[in-house]
Amino acid sequence: MPRSAVGILGIGAAVPEKVLTNADLEKIVDTSDEWITTRTGIKERRIAEEAEAASHFAVRAASKAIEDAGLMPEDIDMIICATVTPDMPFPATACLVQDRLGIKNVPAFDLSAGCSGFTYALAVGTQMAQGDYEHVLVIGVDILSRITDYSDRSTCVLFGDGAGAAVLGPVPEGYGVLAVDLGADGSGAEHLQLPAGGSLRPPSLKTISQREQYIKMAGREVFKFAVRVMESSTKTVLEKAGISAQDVSWFVPHQANIRIIESAANRLSVPMERFVVNVDRYGNTSSGSIGIALDELARSGSLSDGDYVVLVGFGAGLAWASALLRWYERGENRG
Ligand code: UT7
Repeated sequence: MPRSAVGILGIGAAVPEKVLTNADLEKIVDTSDEWITTRTGIKERRIAEEAEAASHFAVRAASKAIEDAGLMPEDIDMIICATVTPDMPFPATACLVQDRLGIKNVPAFDLSAGCSGFTYALAVGTQMAQGDYEHVLVIGVDILSRITDYSDRSTCVLFGDGAGAAVLGPVPEGYGVLAVDLGADGSGAEHLQLPAGGSLRPPSLKTISQREQYIKMAGREVFKFAVRVMESSTKTVLEKAGISAQDVSWFVPHQANIRIIESAANRLSVPMERFVVNVDRYGNTSSGSIGIALDELARSGSLSDGDYVVLVGFGAGLAWASALLRWYERGENRG
């Protein structure tokens, strides 16, 4: 159990304006709206403009979260940015965000945990906020369109761009982050990877000609893993806090595939109405997805003070992360 209660004080999200529909993809690869909809639940996704990078959406989401928390940028004591598509390998995108928000002299670093990124960052940020850092800004952002192969129909229909952010800080006892479950199984790393661009296969004409700068995924393997850990990790956080799935008002799962979400709901014996779903409108935004979904939930007015909320993510690593929150509603800025 946390030493002192830390929870979400404010939340925000930012997605690109440009929409890429299933009909648009039908013109690019051999696919159909019918296949994409029935196999994934995705209808459209948002795609960043050429000049836009992860930091642009991170800054927008973070600004909204800071405002929603009723704070000023100078109140932020640490920035953690979860991403697999930083503006550049270094410096950390968190440092670029820090500079653009005008935040001085606070620690800022990136965290790579694939689609589990937002929840991983939330877990790390909670620990930090229980220590020396009162207000921790946590961001999940990805611009997957930059690493998506638009000649590969098995992946290009899935991904989109966007950012979610949350400000963590002190909340009354009994509220906030009640339990987390983080995990990884590196033996499955090969199932979801970006082969080139790192120190193993630095970018070269050869890696580019082999299209290794794009996501490679064994979809079925990841699907099986996802279904398994969505159930097991959710059960772990619930057990840690002594809460039953029936007591949870909202599940905010990583938005990868409607069938994965339905399968988790089924395995947990929870009606789909309690799962937040926006994969139809944004596709899979990796580190962005859970923050974007939580922001939509909070702004829809469907979250009430004291509600139990489970965040659950899975993806590259293969890694997973869950968090159980008891929602603290400040009331002033929502809606
Ligand atoms: O964020 C975490 C990371 N990612 C995930 O969570 C993704 C997890 N995996 C999945 O969501 C699913 O495995 C996919 C949506 C990626 C694929 O669905 P699937 O039901 O596992 O399909 P499949 O890969 O087994 O392919 C079935 C068929 C194949 O044709 P054949 O071999 O049966 O003739 C594919 O070639 O569907 C074909 N196919 C397509 N057809 C039309 C694959 N992609 C497409 C497409 N349009 N876009």
